[in-house]
Amino acid sequence: MQLSTKHLLGIRDLTPGDIQLILDTATQFKEVLQRPIKKVPTLRDVTIVNLFYENSTRTRISFELAEKRLSADTINFTASGSSAAKGETLLDTVNNILSMKVDMVVMRHSASGAPHFLAKHIPAAIVNAGDGINEHPTQALLDALSIRQALGGLQGKKVAIIGDIMHSRVALSNIYLLKKMGAEIMLAGPPTLIPTYIREAFDVRVEYNLKTALQWCDVANVLRIQLERQNQPLFSSLREYNLAYGVSKRLLDSLDKKIVIMHPGPINRGVELDSDVADSKQSIILQQVENGVAVRMAVLYLLAGAKGEKN
Ligand code: CP
Repeated sequence: MQLSTKHLLGIRDLTPGDIQLILDTATQFKEVLQRPIKKVPTLRDVTIVNLFYENSTRTRISFELAEKRLSADTINFTASGSSAAKGETLLDTVNNILSMKVDMVVMRHSASGAPHFLAKHIPAAIVNAGDGINEHPTQALLDALSIRQALGGLQGKKVAIIGDIMHSRVALSNIYLLKKMGAEIMLAGPPTLIPTYIREAFDVRVEYNLKTALQWCDVANVLRIQLERQNQPLFSSLREYNLAYGVSKRLLDSLDKKIVIMHPGPINRGVELDSDVADSKQSIILQQVENGVAVRMAVLYLLAGAKGEKN
């Protein structure tokens, strides 16, 4: 089985079959990661550069770990401390790295569309590790694997995506993925953080009352407030945001059912999510992080053309 695409630029480009294949392959890699020796020789002849032009903890570390678990050779590039700081263009940087015989590029960039630009100009396979406010496809895939694990599937499941929808690449990738896989979606948050086009563009529910959204859903995927992407204030204060849209234990206890809590990280504790929820049994936040390694192994393995055996 093969993916229908050479790159992973966004969930938008994947078919439901591609998504199913990645999730099923990741499930097999999860089994590898339970073994005493967690390493397989699958990508032994493959060289991968991790090109991070924007800060990251989870995504960068889990790509690096996924590559090491698959026995790939890896190079790590961060923009700070590189010649990008001297004005070198993205294309020059990447062409110089590719001249050293690199097969795949994993890239995070603050500019939406940066990986799509690269894909038009270089021969290597490209994996988007988050581009601006556009997409974060491996996050949506690991979220889907985590929902599948918690609830047994995606079809018909009710997922509320809560908070800063406007600036969230996680939201957009999740919307594409959940629609393709037959889940129901509700976007919830203050009107200033939910773009008006989105309800009709994606045929999703929009809800401005947090408790109504939580009562409706099986899973709440709570998003980080991205203050660094807000040019002007979109709510009065973090304190007031927390009062109106922060997910608290008191609010969850007032529902007539138990729901699953997710967050892509990093969490603004006490803003969009209270600590006693983030660290509760209802939260699967650390399972999401754990699943990130298996999902990234699956993506790299499938894009490398399934060169070797998985195990
Ligand atoms: N979820 C996520 O992308 O986290 P990082 O920014 O730490 O990679």
